Amino acid sequence: MSSSLATVAYLGAAILFILSLGGLSSPESSRRGNLFGMVGMALAVLATVFGPRVSPSGIAWIVVALVIGGGVGLYAAKVVKMTQMPELVALMHSLVGLAACLVGFASYVDTSIQLQGAEKVIHEVEIYVGILIGAITFSGSLIAFGKLNGRIGGKPLLLPGRHWLNLAALLVVIWFGREFLNAHDVQSGMLPLIVMTVIALLFGVHMVMAIGGADMPVVVSMLNSYSGWAAAATGFMLSNDLLIVTGALVGSSGAILSYIMCTAMNRNFISVIAGGFGSGAPKKAAGAGAAAEPQGEVVPVSALETAEMLRDAKSVIIVPGYGMAVAQAQHTVNEITKTLREKGVDVRFAIHPVAGRMPGHMNVLLAEAKVPYDIVMEMDEINADFPEADVAMVIGANDIVNPSALDDPDSPIAGMPVLEVWKAKHSIVMKRSMASGYAGVDNPLFYKENNRMLFGDAKKMLDEVLGALKG
Ligand code: TAP
Repeated sequence: MSSSLATVAYLGAAILFILSLGGLSSPESSRRGNLFGMVGMALAVLATVFGPRVSPSGIAWIVVALVIGGGVGLYAAKVVKMTQMPELVALMHSLVGLAACLVGFASYVDTSIQLQGAEKVIHEVEIYVGILIGAITFSGSLIAFGKLNGRIGGKPLLLPGRHWLNLAALLVVIWFGREFLNAHDVQSGMLPLIVMTVIALLFGVHMVMAIGGADMPVVVSMLNSYSGWAAAATGFMLSNDLLIVTGALVGSSGAILSYIMCTAMNRNFISVIAGGFGSGAPKKAAGAGAAAEPQGEVVPVSALETAEMLRDAKSVIIVPGYGMAVAQAQHTVNEITKTLREKGVDVRFAIHPVAGRMPGHMNVLLAEAKVPYDIVMEMDEINADFPEADVAMVIGANDIVNPSALDDPDSPIAGMPVLEVWKAKHSIVMKRSMASGYAGVDNPLFYKENNRMLFGDAKKMLDEVLGALKG
């Protein structure tokens, strides 16, 4: 492939990536967005492999790597459960970071690159910054992976004087950067580069360890952004324009997503990154899924009674959460929705921005079950409507409907806007036990007078509710 044809293909791929991001901004157009992304990526890979910078003898190696990497990716995508997706994404981000580090070291020791003067300095700055971002992304994403799958506890690790430690690390990195640029040959430049890499790896670990479990949504999107900047840095090192553009797209969209997540949780972005949130009330912040001390009496209800309450209602708001994803109950939820709407009940869904374990988790599940988009509302669109609803049915959600976020300034989730389901005439919470949600906080909603608890697996309970509604 000639170099001009490769440039045209790169341009086409970049445009497709932009269209893909545009498509992903709404559930209606997200399938199209995904398709654009896949076509763009196929075009980019073909243009790179068969482009002017790969020698014919190198193609065989690349094909072998493609088959192995593609095979592992395909297998991982097939076996991963929807609820494990954030962990997989965190692991993928770590690979982007690792790739940036490896490309950085390879570019530095590559003797075929002979640059002089300003060009040499620019190339070395690209290498230094690229490895720095790559190493932080790599180790930070591995810790995020551990936190998301529960191997590492959700409680933030707060080392004494941690901000000073971070500042000292930054100064050391800058000082070694100067040593690196002043090095006369590869051997003497290697030591500062390795020292910086180790510091960056430790910084990545420290940064994510200091972030509380309740703030993990921000970490997921932030590392997404970092992986984009790491890819852009790799693009600079390899002088690959498409990688620069794609990395910048991922980096900036990840940064916007982090901002959206922070707004959704009423957090200050800088404070989240600085760490320590979720540590305000250590007794309560027991960690993901841990059982908090129950604070009152609850009123259990049966599937039959739930069906009666739904049938008698004029307006129902359904709040799905992580438990619906675990139980894979979305199809039954759709069946119940259809049945109720046929009976003239107004049914709508209320989606919290951090419901589940990844951005858009609930939207994806509801779209998969073919719930009509026009009855799926964002939190801001529907929160004021709860007082008019006869029944608010909470399916496997906990933190996102926890009133203590608004009432208890000591709560680890204090300040996070929540879906105010307790304002409905009745609320029904469907979950298996009294266990807390991701943030490990007890939920006063369960003990409210107008709340009922439907205990059991969401899929099993909803099947019974559906049976009763139809019968
Ligand atoms: P959670 O607060 O985690 O609560 C989920 C509830 O579902 C649990 O209390 C659990 O109670 C119940 N459950 C689990 N399996 C179930 C099943 N098979 N059937 C019925 N219920 C089941 O979820 P949420 O309300 O969706 O809030 C999300 C939380 O995750 C927030 O704290 C958020 O910050 C965090 N987070 C979000 C993201 C993103 S980007 N969305 C990323 C990381 C973390 P039982 O065990 O008693 O059944």
